[in-house]
Amino acid sequence: MHRPENENVLSVKNLSVRLSTGDSYLTIINDASFDLRKSSTLGLIGESGSGKSMLCKSIVNLLPKGSRLDGNVTFYPDSGKPEELLSMSEVELRSIRGKKIGFLSQEPGSSMNPVMKCGKQVFDALPNFERANKKNGIQQVLKLLENSGLKNPEAIANSYPHELSGGMLQRVALAAALAGEPEILIADEPVTALDVSSRTGPMKSLSRLTEEMGLSVILVSHDIDFVSNWADDIMVMYLGSIVELGETNKILSSPAHPYTKALLDLSKSFMSGSLPETIPGDIPSMEEKISGCKFHPRCEFADELCSTTEPDSEDAEHGGWKRCFHPVGETEN
Ligand SMILES: Nc1ncnc2c1ncn2[C@@H]1O[C@H](COP(=O)(O)OP(=O)(O)OP(=O)(O)O)[C@@H](O)[C@H]1O
Ligand code: SF4
Ligand SMILES: [Mg+2]
Repeated sequence: MHRPENENVLSVKNLSVRLSTGDSYLTIINDASFDLRKSSTLGLIGESGSGKSMLCKSIVNLLPKGSRLDGNVTFYPDSGKPEELLSMSEVELRSIRGKKIGFLSQEPGSSMNPVMKCGKQVFDALPNFERANKKNGIQQVLKLLENSGLKNPEAIANSYPHELSGGMLQRVALAAALAGEPEILIADEPVTALDVSSRTGPMKSLSRLTEEMGLSVILVSHDIDFVSNWADDIMVMYLGSIVELGETNKILSSPAHPYTKALLDLSKSFMSGSLPETIPGDIPSMEEKISGCKFHPRCEFADELCSTTEPDSEDAEHGGWKRCFHPVGETEN
């Protein structure tokens, strides 16, 4: 059920990100706007290279040096005044990043210290009051590791990162990201390195935290089927733009954007065991200049308007919004 608008914990408005290419700038995120509701999970999907990780990193300003950000990213903490994240200095941001806003990178190894035991790294991420009592803190570390799906938490706590598999490391990174008891967790492909049967445990832990502790999650994946199982709302990204956003069950039953429908059809054909269909054409690179709607070279409904004019976001029949001149339901009727 949707909460009132004032219960948003994060609000992103007209966010654009440009990366320096030496003598010019390349737009990687184009005019992104969305809200994250308190105690909910917002799924972010799109093919590889669509900009999902860059969008996540821009929220907590972990972009490459020389990047330009425009727009607003407002964090509404449980207590205290709203914080405008893009206007904060690096020092100010450090009091929020990894604390009130947890960030789980797509490359878990990159956030870990190679010469420190994993247990100590999770311990150091605990809030001060938990660390004050070492014995209790250690118990908390073991509990976090176990909840992240690690069966032998003592042995894992005593291991160095290089002694663990990618899947184990991903679960340690999740434990560390949750140790600071964040209000928001940005989870970029949090269980991709795990085999399918091991994904449910950590995802159930996250789900429990959203219900019991009011955690709000941005859950990133290229797999729409996986995201549908865990997210209350879904936003779809294509080549740096959010093209559709809505409640998960409504997006699944009546997608408005042809790209969303193509992702769903692809997933259905894969699940049914039939030969997987593909979305026609290749994913263009960010460098390619595509006029109008960026999906038009691959879209079966494209017409001249689509190839010359970029669609704005408009309300969709499913209650969310889409960026498309000829949404799926209208095109088929
Ligand atoms: N450090 C960087 N410097 C320059 N360009 C980058 C950098 N990181 C990513 N990019 C570019 O930004 C675009 C978006 O990349 P991003 O990693 O956000 O995609 P993604 O949707 O997360 O893909 P994946 O599903 O493979 O993780 C790509 O064109 C990529 O080449
Ligand atoms: S605007 Fe046109 S090209 Fe773009 S998705 Fe909609 S119908 Fe397809
Ligand atoms: Mg990524």
